[in-house]
Amino acid sequence: MPSDRVAVVRDLTDCQGRVLARRGDELSAQAVGEAAARARPAPARPLSGSVVAEDVREPFGDPAYRHIFRSPEEQSAAVRALLAAELPGILHQELALLRDQDWPRYRHGIATALIAARMLRAAVGEARALPDLAGAALLHDMGMRHVRPELVRAGVALDRITALEIASHPVLGAYHLATVLGRHPAVDAALGHHWRKGRGYPRLAAPPPRSVEVIAVASGFAALTQARPFRDAPFDARGATDVLVGDAAAGEADLEAVQLLVHVLRGGRGEARQVVFGREREGHAPPGNRHAPVARLVAAA
Ligand SMILES: [Fe+2]
Ligand SMILES: [Fe+2]
Repeated sequence: MPSDRVAVVRDLTDCQGRVLARRGDELSAQAVGEAAARARPAPARPLSGSVVAEDVREPFGDPAYRHIFRSPEEQSAAVRALLAAELPGILHQELALLRDQDWPRYRHGIATALIAARMLRAAVGEARALPDLAGAALLHDMGMRHVRPELVRAGVALDRITALEIASHPVLGAYHLATVLGRHPAVDAALGHHWRKGRGYPRLAAPPPRSVEVIAVASGFAALTQARPFRDAPFDARGATDVLVGDAAAGEADLEAVQLLVHVLRGGRGEARQVVFGREREGHAPPGNRHAPVARLVAAA
């Protein structure tokens, strides 16, 4: 069973060098909640005034997202939701730094936010919570900034020690965001996006909110359709969907969130809950894939 406790192996610092947690500290979902309760969030301003505004349309050039955003209106609605998200200045700075240091991860956040905004809009329309949830999706992998970059870039087979360090990113990211934002959907998204119906990490006392399940599926789709060092090529949209449908069938992804993804891929007409999955087909997965799921390595540790 994966643990919910994470040992901090290097001081956890923000982009200005402020220490958020010390080496040797132990963090957990409970520590995240306590940090959120202690936080005094600084004034927030919309992402329309951040670097994200310059890059937000970049993912639309990717053929993997063509079916999700079929019309200029659907693209603009997702962009509007994301750029309306309001975050304190220090997170605008974190995003600018991430853009300079790790473009693929920065782009992964933007793609996840746009896909999640599209899915949530299909589910609930123009809800008031949409910008906050899009902002949460943008920041869900913030904790990866606290994992040694060579671990994720090496493209070598993961061992358990490496897997454990990577598996710490939800708690580290949620803790970081809780110190800045207090209670906020971004904290839930960071903490819960690898929960995988209790088969992922970290262990949580209660399932994450439904919106986090949507963000988790959006993140999965964005990750599968991007280049990664451990596979020869990205999955195409169909292949990525097959993986997520398989995860849902195995009880490792939220069925309704996967149905919602397939619903928007098919144009968003009718009811998402009535979506029937197509059959898995050959030829949509990359030929060489050395991916070792972190969740399985952590569970075995
Ligand atoms: Fe993640
Ligand atoms: Fe992600």
